[in-house]
Amino acid sequence: MKTLVVFASKYGGTRSSAAKIANEMNQAQLCELEKDSVPDLNQFDCIVVGGPLYAGAIHKAAAAFAKDHVDMLLKKKLGLFIAGLENSEREEPFTANFPEVLIEHASAKEMIGGICDPKTLNFFLKMLMRAITKTSDYHSTVSDEKIRKFCGALKANA
Ligand SMILES: Cc1cc2nc3c(=O)[nH]c(=O)nc-3n(C[C@H](O)[C@H](O)[C@H](O)COP(=O)(O)O)c2cc1C
Repeated sequence: MKTLVVFASKYGGTRSSAAKIANEMNQAQLCELEKDSVPDLNQFDCIVVGGPLYAGAIHKAAAAFAKDHVDMLLKKKLGLFIAGLENSEREEPFTANFPEVLIEHASAKEMIGGICDPKTLNFFLKMLMRAITKTSDYHSTVSDEKIRKFCGALKANA
């Protein structure tokens, strides 16, 4: 099953999680929005779309990609992921950030956790994230188990 992982990332955390997903999907192709050009989607059987949350809203490039490619994505096996420190099972981050038809169509959707690396943040955000995470060190809630579960659901009946 030829798979493309399309993602957005501001501080680099989602890039490493997207690479884990691509690896778990047997060396899927990666496409970082705003950095890479988007390949011809016709050549893929499965497309994964995801991005990180900032104050409850997914990275705008990931949201725009999903919205702009609804018709194409409805023809594919689809996975939607959200990266965020919250790492919960809540449905609301999906309904707030992806078109409803895509959520219904998706074979897998998962909040996979997020990464906060203070080295990548400006002073204000460092202080903000220190207050939220209670640490000024690198902090990750990324769940390899959730990534495996997400990819397993996509690979099922492939
Ligand atoms: C300004 C800011 C706002 C954030 N807001 C949320 C949020 O609302 N929910 C959440 O779960 N994580 C939130 N996070 C955590 C990020 O989603 C997480 O660090 C993510 O891995 C960042 O991805 P990136 O490094 O690819 O940009 C926030 C982080 C920052 C810096």
